[in-house]
Amino acid sequence: MNQSARNFQFWDGRMETLEEQAAGPIENPVEMDMPLSFAVEKLNKHSQYRKFFIKIFGHPADKKSVTDAIAAFERTLETSDTPFDNYTSGKDTTQFSASAKRGQQIFNVKGKCFDCHFGPDFTNDFFRNIGLFNGKDLNDSGRFEVTRNPEDIGRFKPPGLRNIAMTAPYMHNGMHKTLREVIDYYNEPDKFISNSVNRDTLLAKPLGLTEQEKKDLEAFLNSLTDARFIKK
Ligand code: HEC
Repeated sequence: MNQSARNFQFWDGRMETLEEQAAGPIENPVEMDMPLSFAVEKLNKHSQYRKFFIKIFGHPADKKSVTDAIAAFERTLETSDTPFDNYTSGKDTTQFSASAKRGQQIFNVKGKCFDCHFGPDFTNDFFRNIGLFNGKDLNDSGRFEVTRNPEDIGRFKPPGLRNIAMTAPYMHNGMHKTLREVIDYYNEPDKFISNSVNRDTLLAKPLGLTEQEKKDLEAFLNSLTDARFIKK
């Protein structure tokens, strides 16, 4: 992947590069809650890290080299050895089950998932509102926080779906605990949230998925896991 493979980082796209993104979780009060300068100091007190930074960057850690190093690591996190990819490339067609194949069709057509999650990483550089904002108990307004454009209220970046089976809970607020629950949500959002604001028209009507279709769609999502990410 090149440096600018994706133009927005975080659910609301508030950062543009992986380097900017890398500083976020260190400083965020609900994550590591640590000034970046303090993280730099800690790394330089650690003899091994101090040595590595001098060897690679030619000087002890500073803010820029710390975020550069994390971003360089993130760029190595390629997911390619999945049943879905091996089927698509013809390398090994046995891992992609008949159910996953049917699920891929549902993903692309009946489920309309492909309209927002597409391309090799099943995401996109736009922001959409799938109905998880009601201005009351669900009050993260997403992209609006960045643009202040009222149309962006409740819009988030469609997350990439590679390794999705490994990364529960789901959605910006973690409200869905399993992929099955996500599928049930898309099938009939009103059953979960009836007062959402500006929900996308793609989710206007129930999808009408049968039990088997839900299972197939889940099998497809499960086929996007790269086994190398399961191993320690
Ligand atoms: C209108 C665009 C749109 C459509 C259609 C859509 N999605 Fe999404 N999807 C999103 C957005 C935006 C989010 C993030 C929403 C949030 O957190 O508020 C998301 C989140 C998800 C997540 C959670 C990802 C994570 O890391 O937590 C999964 C899984 C998912 N979608 C799968 C699907 C499936 C399966 C379908 C089809 C049934 C589908 N999506 C249809 C836009 C869409």
